[in-house]
Amino acid sequence: MSTRTSKEIIQLLSDLEPRRPSSSDRFRAVLEIGKLCASSLGLREYQREVTKQIRKLIACEHAFLFRLDEDSGQMFRECPLNDGRKWQRYDYKINPKNYIGECVHSQNATEVSVSPTDLRFRKLDDTLQSLVTKDAWLLPLINKGEVIGVLMVANSNESGFTPDDLEILELCSGQLAIALNSYNLVEQISKQFHQTVLAMADAIGKKDTYTGGHTKRVAHFAEMIAKEMDLAFEDMRDLRLAAVLHDVGKIGIEDAILKKKAPLTDEEFVVMRNHPAIGYAILGHIKSLSNVIDGMRYHHERPDGKGYPYGLKGEDIPIIASIISVADTFDAMISTRPYRKGLSPMVAWQEILDYSGTQFDCRVVEAFDRWFKKSKMYRNQDFGQKRKAS
Ligand SMILES: [Fe+2]
Repeated sequence: MSTRTSKEIIQLLSDLEPRRPSSSDRFRAVLEIGKLCASSLGLREYQREVTKQIRKLIACEHAFLFRLDEDSGQMFRECPLNDGRKWQRYDYKINPKNYIGECVHSQNATEVSVSPTDLRFRKLDDTLQSLVTKDAWLLPLINKGEVIGVLMVANSNESGFTPDDLEILELCSGQLAIALNSYNLVEQISKQFHQTVLAMADAIGKKDTYTGGHTKRVAHFAEMIAKEMDLAFEDMRDLRLAAVLHDVGKIGIEDAILKKKAPLTDEEFVVMRNHPAIGYAILGHIKSLSNVIDGMRYHHERPDGKGYPYGLKGEDIPIIASIISVADTFDAMISTRPYRKGLSPMVAWQEILDYSGTQFDCRVVEAFDRWFKKSKMYRNQDFGQKRKAS
């Protein structure tokens, strides 16, 4: 049997004892929170890091951040699920019947009575009710007189939160409010940008009615495929934008070709095939959109190198472009043109599968196949066999 040294026993005992952070621990945590305020982290990473520092700062088990949704006027909080790639959202109405509303209306630190008989506590979501078991405080995050968020700390390590804890939390809540406000401003700019892009896509739609409806459908199919591929949050955001913009270069194609109600001649195809390069000429200078632009620029490339206009091969083609390629071709096949009837989705699906690895990226085709089989378009499970037999 192994024996422990006195040093190990002291360490074990101190680990078991709930520890209050020393002044230097607190100083470090406050500095970290200040540094996070000026960091380049995304909002969710910021939230994860800042709540970690706050738990250290006042030695408590939980810290949660609630944010104001300016569209709905409600507060919400998000928490990561499993590996952190997906987040669960909980919404809270701001009214005096729940603690969040009480804190927002009073604009003051609010003590939560952790009791299953307290109606204001029961208005919190089930997860919070199960996690907050001992004590909790809510602090408003105020920017220019308006509450834009709420910080919640819960389950103090010792005999309760002290006036010192609250004082230091009030200091930090000012920094949190500044950070949240700057994230909100970035989000507003991003929303305005998306609206501008959608207006641009609509303008292309007005030039060519086929392209208009097509753009929206391609964006939808691309998103469905990407969900099957479990694309990272940032790639998903870029993909949505690239899908909306994928045919933006058609704005530079003359109407005689774009609106032609008959199949294009070889010469006209040469002109039409240049639309990704025209799109790049329009948007290429926006450096912050390089992923989005690559998705648009290479959406007619093929893994076997027979695509256009650049003839890229295999993994040189960005995954976002490969997803748009499948979504775009699938929609083109099922759409009726003035000179031909659209194929049935089942026939188009089989065509995509047949060209996996040559025209389309295998990984994307696998994801497309999984999504299609779950969609309402998938009707006859024996279709593949019957088609091969015929
Ligand atoms: Fe295109």
